[in-house]
Amino acid sequence: MPLARPDFARIGVLGGGQLGQMMILAGIPLGFEFGVLTPNRHDPAVRLATRHEPGALDDEAAIHRIVSWADVTTYEIEHVNTEALRAAESGGGLVLPRSMLLATINDKLEQKHALRDAEIPVPAFAERFPGYPTVQKLRRGGYDGRGVQVLRSDRDTPLDGASYYEELVDFERELAVIVGRSTSGETTTYPVVEMEFDADANICSRVIAPARITPSCEARAREIALAAVEALDGVGVLAVELFLARDGRILANEIAPRPHNSGHLTIEACETSQFEQHLRAITGLPLGATTLRTAAVMVNVLGDPGAHGRPRLPAIGRLLERTGVHLHWYGKTEVRPYRKMGHVTVVADDLESALATAQEILPETRVTGGADGR
Ligand SMILES: Nc1ncnc2c1ncn2[C@@H]1O[C@H](COP(=O)(O)OP(=O)(O)O)[C@@H](O)[C@H]1O
Ligand SMILES: [Mg+2]
Repeated sequence: MPLARPDFARIGVLGGGQLGQMMILAGIPLGFEFGVLTPNRHDPAVRLATRHEPGALDDEAAIHRIVSWADVTTYEIEHVNTEALRAAESGGGLVLPRSMLLATINDKLEQKHALRDAEIPVPAFAERFPGYPTVQKLRRGGYDGRGVQVLRSDRDTPLDGASYYEELVDFERELAVIVGRSTSGETTTYPVVEMEFDADANICSRVIAPARITPSCEARAREIALAAVEALDGVGVLAVELFLARDGRILANEIAPRPHNSGHLTIEACETSQFEQHLRAITGLPLGATTLRTAAVMVNVLGDPGAHGRPRLPAIGRLLERTGVHLHWYGKTEVRPYRKMGHVTVVADDLESALATAQEILPETRVTGGADGR
């Protein structure tokens, strides 16, 4: 039975960043009301919420308050106190995806074991150093490449902290699939996208849809992603990052238990955005169609390497003169080098045109900083 009735309208969001902001923007037309837990009242999502619960993501009392207020609570960042979530669930609160899934995902080694146990293809991994070359990963706390280190020889300095090792995959492309799975068990997958990374910052720089892969690879990637989400009993929208290895293997890299950077282009390019899909899924509404309506390239708008202070997008005028170019500015009050300040989605009838425009706009997506006021 759908949970979404006129008297079921309150959604709690843990975290106040851009993912929360885009979730709320998608949820307002569906009639939902939002409460956001975050310590910072200047966070992007707070200005759109009817309720701001000030508190850290490990603040048990604050988590309890927001979960009690909401009909269903979700999170837009995974660095949440899972014990507090579990306590809120025991008290009768509804948290989706469930705290147990988050606890598994937050330990990358446990996550890998869970996937391998479910016979999802993953890179070979080990708890003991297996010899060079290898990829060392911190079990906890990593994001955007922090917490991942390729070790090619003893000249590379290992990371400090509880970690494990993965086979260094020689990949042709990195792919991602957004999976939707609702409280009723209904599932959908979005078309496969390519993720490209900035070599200096190891941060996602571009996402390309449709992925330039064969139909059988497309089908296999979607099948693996769906199986991974089902294995972990994920409810909501979850993103599965994959490697297409040069030897033809498709391997699951990691799962994000929330809408994801690789799915931002679904806002303009797909029938239903990943954010709307997430809300449909956690409230038991029917899932929407995931069809790709147009080719699209998403470009992350990152802080310049030297940028600090108040963010500026000096070329916004030139950017917005263009057709098929959609700016999402997150409204963060401070810029830092490589911080995600916004994104631009370029849509076009064919992928070549979208790629060409995405290349042309790069200088226009530069974010600088300035200490002064307006
Ligand atoms: N086993 C691997 N082989 C080769 N490259 C990898 C491997 N694992 C991670 N990487 C590279 O490092 C990036 C970040 O790793 P990931 O595990 O996704 O961590 P994060 O949580 O920072 O996204 C990946 O997108 C990929 O480019
Ligand atoms: Mg990743």
